[in-house]
Amino acid sequence: MDHVFGFTHYLYLKQTIKWICLFGIASAVLLTVQYSQPPIFRSLSFLLSGVKSHSLKDSYPAFNGSVITEKRTNLSMADEKRPKPETLPVLSISQMNELLQKTRSAPHSVPSQLSSRVDQELLEAKSQIVNAIITNNDTDLYALIYRNISMFKRSYEIMEHMLKVYIYKDGEKPIFHDSILEGIYACEGWFLKLMEANKQFVTEDPSEAHLFYIPFSSRLLELTLYVPHSHSRDNLIQFMKNHTEMLITKYSFWNRTNGSDHFLAACHDWAPAETRGHLLNTIRALCNADIQTGFQIGKDVSLPTTYVQSATNPLKNVGGEPPSNRPTLAFFAGHMHGHVRPVLLAHWGNDTDMKILTRMPHVKGNQNYIDHMKTSKFCICARGFAVHSPRVVESLFYNCVPVIISDNYVPPFFDVLNWESFAVFIPEKDIPNLRTVLLSISREKYVEMFERVKKVREHFFWHSEPVKYDLFHMILHSVWYTRVFRTGF
Ligand SMILES: *[C@@H]1O[C@H](CO)[C@@H](O)[C@H](O)[C@H]1NC(C)=O
Ligand SMILES: *[C@@H]1O[C@H](CO)[C@@H](O)[C@H](O)[C@H]1NC(C)=O
Ligand SMILES: *[C@@H]1O[C@H](CO)[C@@H](O)[C@H](O)[C@H]1NC(C)=O
Ligand SMILES: *[C@@H]1O[C@H](CO)[C@@H](O)[C@H](O)[C@H]1NC(C)=O
Ligand SMILES: *[C@@H]1O[C@H](CO)[C@@H](O)[C@H](O)[C@H]1NC(C)=O
Ligand SMILES: *[C@@H]1O[C@H](CO)[C@@H](O)[C@H](O)[C@H]1NC(C)=O
Ligand SMILES: *[C@@H]1O[C@H](CO)[C@@H](O)[C@H](O)[C@H]1NC(C)=O
Ligand SMILES: *[C@@H]1O[C@H](CO)[C@@H](O)[C@H](O)[C@H]1NC(C)=O
Repeated sequence: MDHVFGFTHYLYLKQTIKWICLFGIASAVLLTVQYSQPPIFRSLSFLLSGVKSHSLKDSYPAFNGSVITEKRTNLSMADEKRPKPETLPVLSISQMNELLQKTRSAPHSVPSQLSSRVDQELLEAKSQIVNAIITNNDTDLYALIYRNISMFKRSYEIMEHMLKVYIYKDGEKPIFHDSILEGIYACEGWFLKLMEANKQFVTEDPSEAHLFYIPFSSRLLELTLYVPHSHSRDNLIQFMKNHTEMLITKYSFWNRTNGSDHFLAACHDWAPAETRGHLLNTIRALCNADIQTGFQIGKDVSLPTTYVQSATNPLKNVGGEPPSNRPTLAFFAGHMHGHVRPVLLAHWGNDTDMKILTRMPHVKGNQNYIDHMKTSKFCICARGFAVHSPRVVESLFYNCVPVIISDNYVPPFFDVLNWESFAVFIPEKDIPNLRTVLLSISREKYVEMFERVKKVREHFFWHSEPVKYDLFHMILHSVWYTRVFRTGF
């Protein structure tokens, strides 16, 4: 109970400070919100989601007493000096599936000390998972939304009994050990906070750890170190490199597996760049799960981008109309960032069955946007500057079948979930066929997908006291699952 109180107390304090700050600076602050994402994000409190209990200016040079925005930045703007990466071919979901199968069946993908107890445990876990007893009528779980429910269930059970995580204590706040629980990058914050507070999985004894967690926040790294208008994130990359080199020299843990039993969770668009170099060997749980920027299927974990409006009530508004009360065929609203959305608007902006809009005018609580999601059959999740978008999880929350238009985006928990059973994937080049594709989905099939969305969404819920199969556990499970499958037989 102490723990519950502590967490609530923390949130309460945060809220109070937030309002004090709000009154203090609201008049002085001219908010130029340039946020690319749905109009939900326009509230003042949202902008203050980065506000911490200590002085803003001290903590975040980027704040500079004027603007703290959650704007999405065109990556190439911050990367002007870098040569353009080669463009990779677009992988279809079935090609991604093949890639996952291939990495899963490759033995000895990771160096190991075969004699250690931890390795023996991992081998035992792997053997039990691949020989899992077939389950198809589980009462808690709905089989069709998983790749393989037997393996998921078994690996989850073993995780609950076995998994031990060691958390590095090194690193100073706010970049390490601190979190932002609201906004679109909130996923990394919630995970960090819940992981550090966890009693079941965390161990103080590194010799019994299956995983080593590096508790940093990519969003706070940006807010703390990015020099506004510098168009360079080199210092952020250098900072993470320094920190990693320190861990490698100070402790013996890294060298044992060359970092492959280490992991991090990072949601900011720049996280793939900040975790290059040594960190590339770790299991990187990333929201920006873009094959084009180095996301490796079977080694990295795709994190959902959860837009949290209220840290005290992250499940606000969940739900939606039944299929019969969803008159709009498909809905999209947002800034015209990136190359995909303008094409979408140009093709479908005038369609009468679909509502394809630029950003919607703000109304209180963003009710207008949410109502559209709750009354549309399909919700378009089109990439902006980066492949990930909060729309994917919003679609699930409002029971709208997601239509993902974002080439080379690996959807959340790809290793466990059977995304094609509850979402539609359309290659960017096929935007002209959007209407035809959606209309070709029979009513029966639609209702099936609708029901699956309703089941799968529970895996995307944050609870301040984690519960079985919730988002905290799903993230930890995918990291664990990856670790197990990268241990050789
Ligand atoms: C804050 O921003 C202004 C204008 O962008 C700049 O002139 C000033 O030097 C900045 N102050 C700090 C402390 O960075
Ligand atoms: C799921 O995994 C189990 C255990 O490896 C296997 O026996 C079963 O055939 C798999 N089911 C499917 C549908 O792949
Ligand atoms: C499935 O359900 C039936 C009846 O509810 C039960 O008899 C059977 O043992 C279950 N099978 C498994 C694999 O749990
Ligand atoms: C990294 O470490 C070097 C040497 O300790 C130091 O000179 C440099 O300022 C550090 N860079 C960053 C970004 O922390
Ligand atoms: C780990 O290996 C690196 C490179 O070989 C070395 O510089 C470092 O000192 C080693 N760390 C420890 C703790 O021995
Ligand atoms: C460890 O990883 C680095 C890349 O970070 C690689 O250059 C090196 O060869 C690896 N060492 C071993 C022993 O696998
Ligand atoms: C980012 O901006 C550059 C020009 O600064 C542009 O060429 C590029 O297409 C933009 N990228 C995206 C994804 O919008
Ligand atoms: C949509 O309607 C506007 C105004 O009538 C028109 O200018 C535009 O060309 C139309 N777009 C398409 C794709 O038909």
